[in-house]
Amino acid sequence: TKIYIPRDAAALALGADKVAKAMEDAVAARGLDVAIVRNGSRGLHWLEPLVEVETSEGRVAYGPVKARDVVSLLDAGLVAGGDHALCLGKTEDIPFLKQQTRLTFARCGVIDPLSLDDYRSHGGLRGLENAIAMEPMAIVAQVTDSGLRGRGGAGFPTGIKWKTVLEAAGARKYIVCNADEGDSGTFADRMIMEGDPFVLIEGMAISGLATGATKGFIYTRSEYPHAIATMAKAIEIARAAGVLGPSVLGSGRAFDMEVRTGAGAYVCGEETALLNSLEGKRGIVRAKPPLPAHKGLFDCPTVINNVISLASVPVIMDKGAVFYRDFGMGRSRGTIPIQIAGNVKHPGLFETAFGLALGEIIDHIGGGTASGRRVKAVQVGGPLGAYFPRALFDTPFDYEAFAARDGLIGHAGIVVFDDTADMLKQARFAMEFCAIESCGKCTPCRIGSTRGVEVADKIAAGIEPEKNRELLSDLCNTMKFGSLCALGGFTPYPVVSAMTHFPDDFKPAPLVEAAE
Ligand code: NAI
Ligand code: SF4
Repeated sequence: TKIYIPRDAAALALGADKVAKAMEDAVAARGLDVAIVRNGSRGLHWLEPLVEVETSEGRVAYGPVKARDVVSLLDAGLVAGGDHALCLGKTEDIPFLKQQTRLTFARCGVIDPLSLDDYRSHGGLRGLENAIAMEPMAIVAQVTDSGLRGRGGAGFPTGIKWKTVLEAAGARKYIVCNADEGDSGTFADRMIMEGDPFVLIEGMAISGLATGATKGFIYTRSEYPHAIATMAKAIEIARAAGVLGPSVLGSGRAFDMEVRTGAGAYVCGEETALLNSLEGKRGIVRAKPPLPAHKGLFDCPTVINNVISLASVPVIMDKGAVFYRDFGMGRSRGTIPIQIAGNVKHPGLFETAFGLALGEIIDHIGGGTASGRRVKAVQVGGPLGAYFPRALFDTPFDYEAFAARDGLIGHAGIVVFDDTADMLKQARFAMEFCAIESCGKCTPCRIGSTRGVEVADKIAAGIEPEKNRELLSDLCNTMKFGSLCALGGFTPYPVVSAMTHFPDDFKPAPLVEAAE
């Protein structure tokens, strides 16, 4: 019998290693014929560590399991999927999972992340095998036709980016995977790297075949030690098996890759700062043009894609462009792994076709707030994303629909706040975050963010509130239109949305007004 205990960082933080140790000891003491598999996470964070057992009827789940529960679980017949207070029934019937459409995350939490055999037997490498039999232009066309757009946040069509690199002249070309997942409330990249690293390797190898690049780099953050270790090990395994190297799967075409670690600057998630950092320079933003697709890493044509964009390519190359494109709405095709976090009852990863209403995600899938209080606001798209009030909960999860309401999907992280949140403080936090993380290259961001913190403090202190609210709006306009990159350019989103949707929080308390 196989018992699955996750090795994902979220599960580890909640004691998964202790559970695994207790399980190992207990099954040995009882002489049970059990293999413990350390899988990735299914993404149901409130149930972690989620322990699963393989039965003839499919997997049965138990959670959240503590080390002290192991004995009673085994007493209750865990090995045969026996009933217990922590039993959640068949894993695939858990509503949070059942309602999902898992294409990119199909294997995450299911397989042993470092077993290439497991990967293959769950459909892995079929996309790469198909790509090997195709001309580069045909691969690019299939990715373009699938409608896949950059999942890092900007939503630029992946196929068009690849076409630019394919057509660019260069002695060498590179594939760079942006795994510098810095947005608050996001963990999709990490979950893929820890739970299904071969899918990213496969996606990068396909990208190499499509563009003529022979070398890839995964740039990730030092805060992700488990992802780094798993990725590095998976690359070694893939190389030993001939998936990477001088002749990818015997095709005669070369592609290899390695993992590089950043030092923790948020701005190094911006593609040109990332390239500088990868080249061993300080992580400062470069002016565009030239686009990285023309002149990227070491001035060579470079594909830079987010983890999820690259990890979505294998299923497109396996099942076809039409299969993928059939999911979604408008110009947002396929699926998106929504990451639900903050003050919410059911935090976790929910992969679904584009188009689900924001309110549906928060109230039904997320189950409302963990505190049980009213949801006041949700921030979508990381620390630079807009705060949406309940009045905008009918917004469908779609790039254009969010943009039309002055918001952004970003990397699809949602952070939920209840009615105790002070939106003026949140606006100040956005400015402070920008001031701390600014690379310093341009004035609106470097100076503007510090001034923004001061102005927010004046509003909070009741000093000339009307004038300072105007000043804050003005400052946001300057930052939005005058900044060189998205860090300074997007900081206005949380600030302006907080001011627009929660004006009461920007009014001085009556006592302060009286003192004036
Ligand atoms: P952008 O719109 O300037 O570019 C998007 C991508 O398309 C880039 O890779 C760019 O090089 C490429 N591109 C643009 N025109 C092209 C062309 N004609 N041919 C080939 N490639 C082309 O957006 P940017 O500044 O790269 O990203 C901003 C986004 O990043 C924001 O929307 C935000 O949501 C997101 N973001 C994500 C974070 C995360 O942790 N994942 C953190 C902060 C921001
Ligand atoms: Fe650097 Fe900020 Fe300017 Fe971006 S907006 S280039 S982070 S100073």
